Amino acid sequence: MKKVEAIIRPSKLKAVQRGLKEAEIPCITVIPVKGSGLQKSYSERYRGTEQSMILQTRVMIICVISDDNLEKCVDVILENASENLVGDGKIFIYNVEDAIRLSSKVRGNEAIL
Ligand SMILES: Nc1ncnc2c1ncn2[C@@H]1O[C@H](COP(=O)(O)OP(=O)(O)OP(=O)(O)O)[C@@H](O)[C@H]1O
Ligand SMILES: [Mg+2]
Repeated sequence: MKKVEAIIRPSKLKAVQRGLKEAEIPCITVIPVKGSGLQKSYSERYRGTEQSMILQTRVMIICVISDDNLEKCVDVILENASENLVGDGKIFIYNVEDAIRLSSKVRGNEAIL
């Protein structure tokens, strides 16, 4: 199993959500986040050092999926969230040890479908 964390523009959330549903990846978690990437925004001096102070508003989509669904999931996010512009966001991929559905106690791939 894999965990995909995609940090994207809030304006792309609906399209990504729709795309994942159509790709039969319906189970997602969405978290509003703030962060910064490479680009410098305005900076301030804090305790003597220059600090970039503006955090961008983004959303994080989390999907835990079977290994078989990984490339499909990544493709959907790339197709729906990329404008080929700086600040589009990023995708992080992790291995997942196990998953358990509380209602049925099933574990592993069965628990995440
Ligand atoms: N290495 C990272 N670790 C944690 N969060 C990150 C990382 N890189 C980017 N992010 C998050 O993703 C958001 C969007 O990042 P962004 O797309 O601007 O990345 P970037 O590295 O600056 O690439 P680009 O040059 O394409 O803009 C950031 O505001 C931050 O929340
Ligand atoms: Mg950036």
